[in-house]
Order: sequence, then C-alpha cells, then structure tokens
Amino acid sequence: MENEDNAVTEDTLTITDNRTGRTYEIAVQNDTIRALDLRQIKVHDDDFGMMSYDPAYTNTASCSSRITFVDGDKGVLRYRGYPIEQLAEQSSFLEVAYLLIYGELPDAAQLEHWEERVMHHTFVHENLAKLMQSFRYDAHPMGMLIGTIAAMSTLHADSKDVHDEKSRQKQIWRILGKLPTVAAFAYRRRIGRPYNYPDSSLAYTANLLYMMDYMNQSDYQVNPVRAKALDVLFILHADHEQNCSTSVMRGIGSSHADPYSAMAGAAAALYGPLHGGANEAVLRMLNEISTVKNIPAYIEKVKAGEFRLMGFGHRVYKNYDPRARIIKKVAEDVLAETGRNSLLDIALELERIALEDEYFLSRRLYPNVDFYSGIIYQAMGFPVDMFPVLFALGRAPGWLAQWLEFIDDPEQRIARPRQVFAGPEQRDYLPLAQRG
Ligand code: CMC
Repeated sequence: MENEDNAVTEDTLTITDNRTGRTYEIAVQNDTIRALDLRQIKVHDDDFGMMSYDPAYTNTASCSSRITFVDGDKGVLRYRGYPIEQLAEQSSFLEVAYLLIYGELPDAAQLEHWEERVMHHTFVHENLAKLMQSFRYDAHPMGMLIGTIAAMSTLHADSKDVHDEKSRQKQIWRILGKLPTVAAFAYRRRIGRPYNYPDSSLAYTANLLYMMDYMNQSDYQVNPVRAKALDVLFILHADHEQNCSTSVMRGIGSSHADPYSAMAGAAAALYGPLHGGANEAVLRMLNEISTVKNIPAYIEKVKAGEFRLMGFGHRVYKNYDPRARIIKKVAEDVLAETGRNSLLDIALELERIALEDEYFLSRRLYPNVDFYSGIIYQAMGFPVDMFPVLFALGRAPGWLAQWLEFIDDPEQRIARPRQVFAGPEQRDYLPLAQRG
C-alpha cells in the first residue's frame, strides 16, 4: 500500500502481550499474519515462543494458491478465475483439467494434443487388472480404487523422481488416463462381469460409460445425455481448494512420495462420509426416509442431534453451494431422459423444509454438491457404492494441479504441524509387579 508521498507502507498488526507488557509489530499481507512471526513472543528467553492453536485448520492458510477461488459467503466458485457456471455450461472435463493443471485454457492444438495424450494412457498394466481380480467379490469399489492407485506406483517407478518435469507430465497423463479404467474394472469386478478394455476413440466420460456398460451388443451406443451429465458433474468436482483430500495430497506429496502414493492417500480421505462419501450417504438417507411424509419426523431427529442431514452443510459455504444449483438442473435433464425418480421428490421436499427451518437457517446449512449428485448417479444406473469413486475421478485433476503447485512452491517444505502437548510430565518406568 502506498501513502500520499508514494512511500511504501506496510500493513501491520500490533500485539501486546499482557503477560510481559511487551508489544510486537507483525506484518499483515492479504489479511494474514505469518504464524512464525508469533514465535518471537516469549515470556522467558528460553521459551519455545508462541504458536497458534487451530484444530481442523479452520483459520489457517497452509499455502498460497492460484488455482481455485471460493467465496463461501457469496456462494462463488472459480477455477483459475473462470466462474464454475461458465465452465459447466461451455467447457468439457478434460479442458477444465488442462485449465486447472496448466493455469490457462488450451488453444485448439493444445487441447487436441492433451486429449490424445490422456486417452493414449487409458490402458492399464495387465498385472493391475489381475490384482483387481483378487479383491473379494463384495469389496467396496472405493477400497479397490485406493488400493489399485497405490499399486500403480509399483508399476511406474519413474514417478519417484518428482522433480523431473517430464516424468511429472507423464504421470499426469497416465493417472488421468488410467483412473476411469480402474474405476470401470472395479465396477465390473463387483458385479461379476468381464472387463471391457478402453476405447480411446471415445470422449473421456463416454469411454468410462462404455467400459462400465458395454455387453457386446452389436448396436451399443454411449448415451450422450448421460455422458454429458457425467462430464458436467466431473467439472463441478474437479477442484475445491484446500479441502480434506487435497490437503492430504499436498501433505503426502510434501515428503516427495510419488503422485500415485499421494493420490491413494487423497482418495482414502475422500472416502469418508463427511467428504466424498457423502453422496453415497445421501442416497442411503433418501432411501431410509422413503416417502415425503416421513420427512418432518426425520428432520426432528436431525435437530435433536441423533444424526446429520447428509448433503447439507459445508465448512466453507455458508450460502447455497453454487455447484448444487448447477447439479439440480443436471438432475432434471437426466431424469427427463431416464424417467422421474421418487427420490428427487423426497430431496426437493427435504430441501424446502430444511431451508425454512430455524435450525438450518441459524447454522447456515444449505445443500452441498453431494445432495443432488447421488440422485443423478442413481438415475443413471450407478450402484450407490460407485458414487465416491465417481467423485474421485472428477477430483483427480484438482489433486494433480495442487500437487504440482506444491512441488514448485519454494516456500513449501515437508508438512509437519506442531502440537500443544497435554500429556503427563516425565515419570519413571515401573516394573509390572509394582503397578497398581
Ligand atoms: N446436519 C445437521 N446439522 C449439521 C450438519 C448437518 N449436515 N452440518 C453441520 N451441522 C451443525 C452441527 O451439528 C453444528 O451444530 P452446533 O453448533 O449446534 O453444534 C453446526 O452445524 C456446525 O457444524 P460443524 O460440524 O462445526 O461444521 P463443519 O464445518 O466442521 O462441518 C461438514 C462441515 C460438511 C463436515 C458438515 O456440515 C457435515 O457433516 N455435513 C454432512 C456431510 C456432508 O454432506 N458432507 C459433504 C460436504 S460437501 C462435499 C465434500 O466436501 O466432499
């Protein structure tokens, strides 16, 4: 900031430590102070120095990022500056993946090359296909996905060199190319059908649907409405700044583990019902509610704290999640094609009642991205346990973009939070016979 004399002035924060009466001036940039600047605040010279305590990182920026902007109060989401609404309407998933990873929209030649490279890497090593056969018949496909991504690290040893730009580029093509194949194989394994190998002449999401659905029909065609809906859903899921799974991707990446190992961890974080597993939980909840007339009693139980309304609430959005608004429209398009689904009626009524209820209004709990995505997936015929897998496929470019940004950020080092130790002081070991 400059004053009237054009001299540069720095924004600062003045802190008075009432324990000592000392005053400290700390630099402020982007409404943020550096946590390490607090370390100088000490009572005694040999103190460790002050830290900030922030369980769940609700008010701590762990990085500076140029990828995704979220304004949770206004319900705004932008990838590299582009509003999510424009991308969902006009772009494709692979184009958005390029945007997230490289920072700019591709020109025609760049897009063609990118799509060709990703689709060229859709085949997986046969050992991986065999490994997937070894999961038990009822293995959750998300467990299979996590395990298989980790196993991919053993097949692509060149991925270990995370500082080699060429190698990193190759892993990005491989990961985006192979993930749909792994997802489709997990699904086919689960339902006891033979694998379909990729058709790289198809578009990204069309190829996924083909690998999942094709049963040697001579007249098989990928349904374009479903492929388009999946593409839009993937765009909506593609990144969401420093969410739980992305933080894990960065955290594991910070030890310079290869991107497959880091992504297996990120996918594991996504699996939980408070994160990407929520779409599966929403569907189970709607089935449990089963009819519109059961909704008021269900809401009363939520308000009594017996359980949460899945698909509602968000750490960052304290307003309608912009992705939920777009998804609601996609749900209508898909259901117009597949036939209306009673679960949508339950969801719409649940949303209406919740949005008028003081409990949800006062806590600023609105439908999130997972509230409607499950209904679309179900209408398209995906089994419920595939929902988090689909979320993971959509989120993969975001994980990769954030991983690359981390690796290239000179300010970043291995992630290693501090703790406030609240355990016992030093004590002496007691032999077993002397313990009460
Ligand atoms: N239903 C009922 N009450 C809720 C809900 C909910 N879904 N979410 C939060 N609350 C209440 C919570 O009980 C607390 O109330 P009180 O102040 O009386 O104790 C208050 O709202 C604040 O909740 P919080 O747990 O401090 O909020 P958080 O920011 O830590 O949690 C969340 C965010 C997404 C984990 C949470 O809202 C939740 O569990 N939602 C349901 C699961 C869900 O839909 N997850 C998908 C998130 S979007 C996609 C993604 O990120 O993967």
